[in-house]
Amino acid sequence: SGPETVSPTGQPTGAEQARVAQSGAYLTTAQGNRLYETDHSLKAGPRGPVLLQDHHLREKIMHFDHERIPERVVHARGAAAHGVFQGYGTAAKITKAAFLEKDIETPVFVRFSTVLGSRGSADTVRDTRGFATKFYTSEGVFDLVGNNIPVFFIQDAIKFPDIIHAGKPHPDREIPQAQSAHDTFWDFVTLHTEATHHTLWNMSDRGIPRSYRMMEGFGVHTFRLVNAEGATTLVKFHWKPKLGVHSLTWEEAQIINGMDPDFHRRDLADAIESGAYPQWELGVQTFPDTPDQTFEGIDLLDPTNIVPEELAPVQPIGLLTLNANPSNYFAETEQVAFHVGHLVPGIDITDDALLAGRLFSYLDTQITRLGGPNFGQLPINRTHAPVNDMLRDGMHQTAVHTGVAPYRPNSLDGGCPFLAGNDTGAYIEVPKELPAARKVREAAASFDDHFSQPRLFWLSMTPPEREHIVAAYTFELGKCYEQAVKERGLQVLANIDGELCAQVAAGLGLPAPEPTVPHTEAEPSPALSQLGQEWPAD
Ligand code: HEM
Repeated sequence: SGPETVSPTGQPTGAEQARVAQSGAYLTTAQGNRLYETDHSLKAGPRGPVLLQDHHLREKIMHFDHERIPERVVHARGAAAHGVFQGYGTAAKITKAAFLEKDIETPVFVRFSTVLGSRGSADTVRDTRGFATKFYTSEGVFDLVGNNIPVFFIQDAIKFPDIIHAGKPHPDREIPQAQSAHDTFWDFVTLHTEATHHTLWNMSDRGIPRSYRMMEGFGVHTFRLVNAEGATTLVKFHWKPKLGVHSLTWEEAQIINGMDPDFHRRDLADAIESGAYPQWELGVQTFPDTPDQTFEGIDLLDPTNIVPEELAPVQPIGLLTLNANPSNYFAETEQVAFHVGHLVPGIDITDDALLAGRLFSYLDTQITRLGGPNFGQLPINRTHAPVNDMLRDGMHQTAVHTGVAPYRPNSLDGGCPFLAGNDTGAYIEVPKELPAARKVREAAASFDDHFSQPRLFWLSMTPPEREHIVAAYTFELGKCYEQAVKERGLQVLANIDGELCAQVAAGLGLPAPEPTVPHTEAEPSPALSQLGQEWPAD
């Protein structure tokens, strides 16, 4: 059985005990021994040397010395809240996931974050924001680990250490702390041009949200949903905030950074405390699960692509309401462990090479961050469904497992039968034909067009939004020391749009280069070429 909350002697253990620990008539040691004093070390006389035999002193300082755990390697700074998710029942045709059924209410925990800054960095920096949701469903935990930007910098997880090394502070001076205005970031994203689309979103107003309550969220990858009959549909997940999408201006962001670096976490907590519960609708764009996994010429396995909502509207499937603040930041916001591989029946993955690497990375990093393999037993990570696993022992084991046969088959503990039938559990692969393949270290040719979707995004902007983008590129590229990096930045912009490039070049005092990738060479999909009309002149 799963982690016990009552010890064999009937005493409360784990979370229950922890909750009562900071109250009572007297202070105790960790072992429950009463203390009459905690203000003075034990000494040989009032002015004498401190005695090593003082267990309370040693325990108190030892525990303090180990209060910090490693911060997340990315998304270190975050704020979170509890809430509830209510299914609309509208997804029943495409998925058997029970929590999406009509009026089913599922407890959730959501953590918002910046990506690059360390735990103590400021909130209103220009960066991508994380939007990670843990659904404690009746069928086990489902985590939707998304961002507020619908595309990613890279198409293959093997490049993740590269983009993060480039985005984090320079190894020599450890600056800048939390923004992309530096040489290594621009060096990488201008050499590795599949990053162009995500970078352009970062330089737009989406890079400085006004509030976590006013951000969209995206699952980014294409997922595969499975219905009760076993039929599959490809989807992209979207969170739509009821308050609408709003950003800060750059000037506001700068002032707030100085006056209140905790602006976003304060805003979230204050809103919830005052009863102004933020809400998001969860929606899906749906695509037929065809063998080539493309839609209107857009490769669905390439996470640098969006599918425009004009081509595939977002259909609402449920409502998220955040209604309670964490009571302890460390126990909840810091110790929560999300994982893209936490899936429930009816939700499956696709062969997106970025997603594949994430499936490995989160478990792996959490073993270090949370000190061993048992972090699933931490109160915030515990499933609300019954647990009957055969995982045993390990660092920080808090369950008191019963039984003698944590193996299968066995004849001593009930034999550990499989589920009846084979369609009621998680991790049941939908049989899919794989194309005849040879081992390669390369991407499909359909992953090569790095500029037509960024151009589409630029063309969809209003004049003030374009001004903000030009100002952002000018400021951020202007912070680079290396002239060659600035020039390559302009070259990338020339490949997106001549006007964007010319304006940033003027701001930097540099000549505007000609595009090296003519727009006709990397032919956008037929559907895309009909979109992205120029914004009409006033
Ligand atoms: C953490 C999103 C790609 C590795 C996170 C978090 C989010 C997120 C929201 C913060 C979770 C939290 O609040 O605790 C995304 C998205 C991605 C992406 C949307 C692309 C679509 C990747 C890739 C890798 C990766 C490709 C590695 C190959 C990590 C790691 C953490 C993390 C190691 C820290 C987890 C922890 O310490 O608990 N990611 N990520 N991510 N991500 Fe990603």
